[in-house]
Amino acid sequence: MSAAQRWAELQEGRGIPPEILAHATAPPWLHDPTDFTAPAVPADTPSRRAASGLLGAGGTVLDVGCGGGGASLALAGVVAHVTAVDQQSDMLEVFAAGATARGIAHRLVPGRWPDVAIAAGPADVVLSHHVLHNVVDLPPFLLALTAAARRGVVVEMFAEHPMAWLDGLWVRFHDLHRPPPATTDDALAVVAELGIDVRVERWERETVPRQDAQWVTRRLCLPVERVAEVAVALDAVPSRPRMAATLVWEG
Ligand SMILES: C[S@@+](CC[C@H](N)C(=O)[O-])C[C@H]1O[C@@H](n2cnc3c(N)ncnc32)[C@H](O)[C@@H]1O
Repeated sequence: MSAAQRWAELQEGRGIPPEILAHATAPPWLHDPTDFTAPAVPADTPSRRAASGLLGAGGTVLDVGCGGGGASLALAGVVAHVTAVDQQSDMLEVFAAGATARGIAHRLVPGRWPDVAIAAGPADVVLSHHVLHNVVDLPPFLLALTAAARRGVVVEMFAEHPMAWLDGLWVRFHDLHRPPPATTDDALAVVAELGIDVRVERWERETVPRQDAQWVTRRLCLPVERVAEVAVALDAVPSRPRMAATLVWEG
């Protein structure tokens, strides 16, 4: 089995069976844009340092799966222009507000990567933070990132699928036993298979997105009446792993 096939299988193993999904009262996968607002003072992370290094005295950025702009808005003062791609238009609204507040020239491209790669066009530096774990078919996604980058690509991801810490709760509430989650090493195997020469730095994040009992209840496709029960169960779950990785390669 190729690394790309293995990645796809692991990612498909994260799906929600239709009989559980049928009982969801709110969309379990939807990201809430307010959880992704870029911080006023960006953390000094390996990803930010890598992007700054590639930008040097300046240049343009393409932020794929931009969310609220956590990746590219951290480059305020260095970046000349950001093209922001996201499949959720409400995320693009949050991104636009953040870019405007920081005086960053920007363009919004709604849609799914790599489908909108041509509409987005190239940039000096391409960023994609915390999107790989949403992708099943990784090679076209990665190749389009590479093709769009004049100087380089910076990808950030968690060490394993960011929802894997909930696997015990899927067993408890739905008797659903999931296969192991895809990891950074699984992604790196796909990168290697594509012949991309990548530099990797593993590090611990200071903060992780807010994911409280209400959020977890929705994720688990449970009704809001069960939030208290989920809160009790959450107390017994070990805290979420915070290890992340920055992957950098040339465009
Ligand atoms: C976990 S959030 C990360 C947001 C931001 N990059 C950050 O690090 O804060 C993932 C974002 O990627 C978007 N996304 C996921 N897959 C995508 C795809 N194939 N094309 C475009 N956007 C995508 C989602 O809508 C969401 O806004």
